[in-house]
Order: sequence, then C-alpha cells, then structure tokens
Amino acid sequence: MRRPVDLQTEITQTPAWWHDAVFYQVYVRSFADGNGDGVGDLDGITSRLGYLELLGVQALWLTPFYRSPMVDHGYDVADPRDVDPLFGDLDAFDRLVTESHRRGIKITIDLVPNHTSDQHEWFRAAVLAGPDSPERERYHFLDGSGEHGELPPNNWTSIFGGPAWSRVADGQWYLHLFAPQQPDLNWANPEVAADLARTMRFWLDRGVDGFRLDVAHGMAKPDGFPDMAPGALEGAGVLHDNALDPRFDNDGVHDIHRMIRKVLDEYPGTMAVGEIWVKDSERFTRYLRADELHLGFNFQLVDADFNAESVRAAIESSLAAVATVDSPPTWTLSNHDVVRHVTRYGGGELGWRRARAMALVELALPGVVYLYNGEELGLGDVELPDWARQDPIWERSGHTELGRDGSRVPIPWEGTEAPFGFTTGTASWLPIPAEWATLTVEAQLEDPDSTLSLYREAVELRKTHPAFAGMELEWYGAPEGCFAFRRKGSGLVCALNTGPRPVPLPAGQILLSSMPLSDGQLPPDAAAWLL
Ligand code: GLC
Repeated sequence: MRRPVDLQTEITQTPAWWHDAVFYQVYVRSFADGNGDGVGDLDGITSRLGYLELLGVQALWLTPFYRSPMVDHGYDVADPRDVDPLFGDLDAFDRLVTESHRRGIKITIDLVPNHTSDQHEWFRAAVLAGPDSPERERYHFLDGSGEHGELPPNNWTSIFGGPAWSRVADGQWYLHLFAPQQPDLNWANPEVAADLARTMRFWLDRGVDGFRLDVAHGMAKPDGFPDMAPGALEGAGVLHDNALDPRFDNDGVHDIHRMIRKVLDEYPGTMAVGEIWVKDSERFTRYLRADELHLGFNFQLVDADFNAESVRAAIESSLAAVATVDSPPTWTLSNHDVVRHVTRYGGGELGWRRARAMALVELALPGVVYLYNGEELGLGDVELPDWARQDPIWERSGHTELGRDGSRVPIPWEGTEAPFGFTTGTASWLPIPAEWATLTVEAQLEDPDSTLSLYREAVELRKTHPAFAGMELEWYGAPEGCFAFRRKGSGLVCALNTGPRPVPLPAGQILLSSMPLSDGQLPPDAAAWLL
C-alpha cells in the first residue's frame, strides 16, 4: 500500500514528524511478556501501549523481532521478513502497528543490513556450495593467508572479541565483524541490495513509519581487505576512526544509504536513523546528506562524563556536526549496548541524582531524543550472577568481559516480588533484582517525586510549551562545574550543576527541577528548567 501522494505535499510543507520527537527504544525481549514464557514479545508491547501514551513518547524503536537463532538476541537474522515465534507472529505485529497508530504513536523497527545469521538460507547454501560459487558471493569468503591458507586473510578482530574470520570445512574463511554466527554480507553483490529493498517494502507496506539501521557505518568493505593499523584499537573508545580501522566507515557505504533513501522516498512520511559509531564529525555528517539518512544516532552524550565541561563539549560538537545538513541533532544517554547512565554516573543515589539531571539536560535540547526503556524509572545496570549471562561478548571473551546483559534486565511493572508483572510465568529471561520493588512502574506512577513523574512532566512540557522552539542555543556564563543555556528565540533556560556546592540560578521562574532547590539554589548533581 503506497501512501497517497497528496500526503507528500502536506509533509514537505510542515516539519517532518520526527524533527523534535521523543522516541522510546523498546528492547523487545525485556519490555513486557504477553505469553508467560519469560521473554518479552509483541503482544506484551501492545498490552502496555497505554503506559507509553501516558509517558508521552511519540514513536517507538523496536529492536529485532525477526526469525533468529538468538545468538545475539535477534541481531542474527535468519529471515528478515517474518516474526520469530518467540516474539509472536505477523498478526501480532499488525495488531501492534494498528493499536500504536490509533494512539498516535509511530512505529520504527530495526533493520540489520550488515550481516545475517549463519542459519539464513543464503549462508547455509553458501557453505554447501563451495569456493567460487555464486552462493559464496553473497558473503565475504576468502582464502586464508600463510603457506597453506591456515591463517585468517587479514588481522581484523571481531567487535565481540577474537578474530573477525572463521574457517569452513573446505578451508576458506568468511568475515564476521560480530559473532561467527553473524556472517557479513557482501554489499558489492546487487542481490544483497535488492533483498534489503524487498525487506523494507515488506514492512513499509505493513505500515511502519521508519527504520533504525543497525551498524549503518559498516556495510561497505574496503577493496583488498587491508589490515587494521597496529594499535588501531588502543584508546579508540567506542567510536571508530576509519584512518586506523578499515573495518568501518568506508566511503562505499554512502551509495548503500542512497539506495535505502530511494526506497523510503516511495513512502512519504517515513524515515531512517542510522547507528553510526564514527569518530570524526565531518565523516559523521556525510551520512546525513539530503539523499542519505534522515537522522544519525549521536553517541557523544554516552561518551561524556558527568561534568559540565564534558557535557557542554558534547552538546556543542553534536550541534556543530549537523549544522551544515538538513538533519536535526539526536540525543541519547543509554541503549541496549552500553552501561545504563545511572551506573555510568556512579550508581546508587549519586548515579540516580545525576541521571535525573541529565534527563532534563537532554530533554531541553533541540532535535530528537531517544530514550531507552527503563531509564524513565531510573534503572541502573544489574550485577548479574555469571550463570545468568547470555551476551556473546561474555562467552567470546572467555568470561573476561561481562557484556551487555546488565543493561537488558526486564522492566519491573508492578507488585512486590520478581518478576514484577513483566511475565505471568515464574521467571524472566534475566533475573530482576529484588531491590527493584521500589522502582516498579506501579510504585512510581502516582508519586510526584519519582523519576517516572519527572520524565512524564518533562516530556509533556517539551511537547506542549512554546519555550522549546528553535534549533539554536545560547550559553550563559556560569560558575565552575556548571552550565546554563537558553533556547534562542523561545526562551527555555536549562542549568546544570555538576560541582560540589549549591549555586545560584539564572534569573527566571522555575519550570521543573531534577531535585528540590536548596534555599533557592541549584544543589549539586542537579538540573533545572527556567523561564
Ligand atoms: C549493533 C546492535 C548490537 C548488535 C550489533 C550486531 O551494534 O546495537 O546490539 O550486537 O549491532 O548486530
């Protein structure tokens, strides 16, 4: 079903629906379980849409729910055009879309174009077909180095640890930037692009409003597979630098984004956001040219410590990165791949206070905000027992790296004991700590001082108050360890105190604060909105 063309005219005249939207990332396994098996699913999400409406978010991003052996919890896709039985079926998906749209909530879904599962029919056929077959041309199968091809073709490592190459029985090696069960597709093969276009139309025809593109800086590979520079990963942090690390951000990736954009343009009012872990701002911006992605995930706030100087630098550089393109900035503090910000900021009461402050900073900024499910409850990472850990990073690192399970623990909904209404079954796929009894949605909903209430109020003001208009910021002079900015033109002021003492606030009336003021001053580890 194509959307009517007169809609297109309307859309080009008003700002796109996403230009200042609050998106909410649903980690499908962990949001709500509708069938009692301990794993979140599509019907579970549908049953909790009332909550999301109350929270006030305008759009959802659903992590992959496609057929998958679940080695990387769904980012290993065996059939991108079907729902895994663990999460429901296509009817459940259609129900979710219809019911979300009825409530005015847009649905965006994850696409995984860089790799498939090793159980995808293409990969199974490739393994069987042998060297030089057209089946192998859909992936990166190469002969090894060394006298007898016994060594991998180059020195690339997998993001999940160990070499990025695995060997099949006939001696060839295949590339996997992630787990061996996630072989990288060969985007030089036109069949690969055609298949992604087919997948996109499949879901667009079912009514989705857009996509989040997984590893959007990864699909193109450099000719000749040059080695990574020695020390390429030392001190690299979470962002990739193509000058040292040829695995990501190769120039050929932009043709792929142009092809993706063409498909989206057939469906007016739809959008794509890319996961782009790219260090250099200028290279990041290339993904946002008019014929490429609508939005790019920006991870600078994830990278910044809780101090006014770092946060300000992250904000300024994020704004500068999109200044030359027609794409609003995006802001994110947490997602399913990183340690939750309550924990990053020190955990416990301190981390919780700081996370509340940063929520106000983030929601005061112009552009698009991505919330990660559970952050509105003030959840931190959970220290899981080793037996419970499931992330491939944990296994592949020989249990030296904990992996990402700690930020993926299911949402506590209600009641006084685990699994807190997440499932009607007895256990959730990752155990929920008993201490979360005070953090359930039920416990926070009616409490005006709860984190949930703070988020609800902040999201509501952001959506309805005229002081949040305009894209530019003006910075005030501020005491050390603090900052204050104003939305130029519309007037909202946001002040942050990361220092050790209470500080006076700029002139104005308080609209909202993350902690009660102390004698009219902004306490440490707090933020406030003023007008
Ligand atoms: C992205 C996802 C992550 C996944 C990886 C491989 O980074 O966010 O969860 O493991 O891609 O698909």
